[in-house]
Amino acid sequence: VNITVIGTGTLAVALGRAWAEAGHTLRVTGRDRGHAGTAAGRIGPAATAVDPGEAATGADVLVVAVAWEGLEAAVRLVGAGGSLAGRTVVDCTNPVDFATGRLLPVTGSAAELVARSAPGARVVKALNLFAGASWPYRGPGPQAPLVPLCGDDPDALARVGVLVGDLGGRPVVFGDLAASRQVEEAAGFVVRLVATGHNPRLAVPDVEPVRG
Ligand SMILES: NC(=O)c1ccc[n+]([C@@H]2O[C@H](COP(=O)([O-])OP(=O)(O)OC[C@H]3O[C@@H](n4cnc5c(N)ncnc54)[C@H](OP(=O)(O)O)[C@@H]3O)[C@@H](O)[C@H]2O)c1
Repeated sequence: VNITVIGTGTLAVALGRAWAEAGHTLRVTGRDRGHAGTAAGRIGPAATAVDPGEAATGADVLVVAVAWEGLEAAVRLVGAGGSLAGRTVVDCTNPVDFATGRLLPVTGSAAELVARSAPGARVVKALNLFAGASWPYRGPGPQAPLVPLCGDDPDALARVGVLVGDLGGRPVVFGDLAASRQVEEAAGFVVRLVATGHNPRLAVPDVEPVRG
């Protein structure tokens, strides 16, 4: 799969390395060509840096890993001229205040901002809850991280599900794109618990699902 990562930081490199290891081809883009080159170098030979204007060309999937402050600008830079229309775009971002875990968008979600900034794109919210360093997961299958996916396009959800599986995660379709706010709130909950010195894993009940 040809994956373009929009973002040049910690998550971009971690996901890029894990997907490169799974045999995918990576391209990395950002507002700063030098940072994109460094990130591509850290991912390895499967990755090349590209300018934002070329980032959508030939990409099967684009992955957004940018800080909240730069999210809209970064997506608009890549999607200028409508190049993201019809593309699968994964939003991995957390629009939270990292000191308190408070969600920054007053309504909606970062994923819906991505969708508004890239008209016609098939946006999927995914991979925002676990640290990039969690991937690839190599532990026992039954303990593999669950990765909630939110989106409106079944084909895009399926494509992203396969890429999550390639990381060792277990994709779960959680809801439509509007459900992204709940997943982003969950990230804020995790951030706040960690900031108060607690392990969020111990704050979630162990509940057996009712199977119908
Ligand atoms: N790190 C993780 O393990 C992890 C896990 C899940 C989700 N996330 C989420 O993924 C996103 C990226 O996290 P990260 O840890 O990779 O952050 P990071 O290492 O700080 O990298 C931030 C990225 O955002 C770009 N950026 C920052 N401000 C910008 C602005 N005003 N305009 C345009 N671009 C801007 C940076 O570009 P420059 O290089 O040009 O500054 C860089 O590419 C965040 O939303 C975070 O919550 C991170």
